[in-house]
Amino acid sequence: MSQTTTDQPEVRKGLVGVYADTSAVSKVMPETNSLTYRGYAVQELCEECSFEEVAYLLWHGELPNQAQLAAFKEAEAKERPISETLHKVIAAFPRDAHPMDAIRTAVSFLGMEDPEAGDVSDAAQRRKAMRLFAKIPTCIAAAHRASKGQEVVAPDPRHSFAENLFHLVQGKVPAPEVVKSFDVSLILYAEHTFNASTFTARTVSSTGADIHGAITAAIAALKGPLHGGANEAVMHMLKEIGEPSKAAEWLKGKFDHHALVMGFGHRVYKHGDSRVPTMTKYAEKMAEVVGDRRWMETSRILAAEMLKAKNIHPNLDFPTGPAYYLMGWEIPLFTPIFVASRITGWAAHVFEQGADNRLIRPLSAYTGLEQRPVPPMSQRG
Ligand code: ACO
Repeated sequence: MSQTTTDQPEVRKGLVGVYADTSAVSKVMPETNSLTYRGYAVQELCEECSFEEVAYLLWHGELPNQAQLAAFKEAEAKERPISETLHKVIAAFPRDAHPMDAIRTAVSFLGMEDPEAGDVSDAAQRRKAMRLFAKIPTCIAAAHRASKGQEVVAPDPRHSFAENLFHLVQGKVPAPEVVKSFDVSLILYAEHTFNASTFTARTVSSTGADIHGAITAAIAALKGPLHGGANEAVMHMLKEIGEPSKAAEWLKGKFDHHALVMGFGHRVYKHGDSRVPTMTKYAEKMAEVVGDRRWMETSRILAAEMLKAKNIHPNLDFPTGPAYYLMGWEIPLFTPIFVASRITGWAAHVFEQGADNRLIRPLSAYTGLEQRPVPPMSQRG
């Protein structure tokens, strides 16, 4: 909300409605509930492209041809393994560490191991981004499996990015329709203009710091329940409700306590999130494949009741929560999976920030005490 007093400059709390810079990576059009990556509608990308093609698009500005895609996939597959040292570091994490803290720490560690750590030239940042992109799933899986006392599974270069994540964490690759739904979720999570984590990555980059620092900070921002952490909260909520027949009554209880309902609302979209219809379609497919309609039915009732009572629409995390659960992902992995996807968007913004950098340094409107003399110790109450 804007706050202006006679002697105060205008403050846009939460930077609502502030244009902080230009960007050619993606465009949100709230009036039409639409989103484009490099000019392509995200729904069309989901139907026509793989996640790897979209990652290439975000980083290079154009979709790859056959040869470019093959080279991109080969480079990614080659970089998947992590060092023995990092495996040992991950194995030493506390068993009950939050998976987002684990991946944040692993990414920070990767920065110390990276041969080009201090080189912030565009070419080096791009090589480091590829290494991070490839190694993040390996780190997520290693931390998850270590926390459960399971053997680590080696990445398989023959698998696509999505298949490899299933292979690393779940030890097997599911049916193609499950992999396709997961791939779609990765495309939808890949990029979304100046959201909190992306803006964090750009802010860190603007100081001249390296990409590992920027991504470590972005992961910290994504963990929050008002941002990426909402996909986990949605599934906890659906499980707490239990049955579709209890959804309306449960929601009424939330309204009575003026509580936030996770997976609803968005800073930019006020009439619906452009990504929700596509993800809902694929979540419904997962419910069919698994033969369990309970979560999608509960979701349907919640969405209808929220709209009726509050005129608030679901955001991407709302259908992704049950979709991931139905795909067999454990709930604490939902936000780390978001990281595995969003590294592509974060990196695209780090490249863009670096290409035309100016230190990000806003102002604060001071509301504290007027200047006063420092009292000696003997006069302090
Ligand atoms: N449940 C209940 N009420 C809500 C919700 C919600 N999920 N979201 C917004 N509202 C209410 C607010 O309380 C506010 O009510 P008021 O005017 O009576 O105070 C009104 O709707 C307007 O909300 P805004 O202030 O415009 O919301 P803002 O832009 O500040 O916040 C946010 C957006 C943080 C996403 C918010 O909607 C929220 O907390 N949602 C739940 C968390 C969530 O799902 N986050 C995922 C975001 S998408 C992503 O990261 C992929």
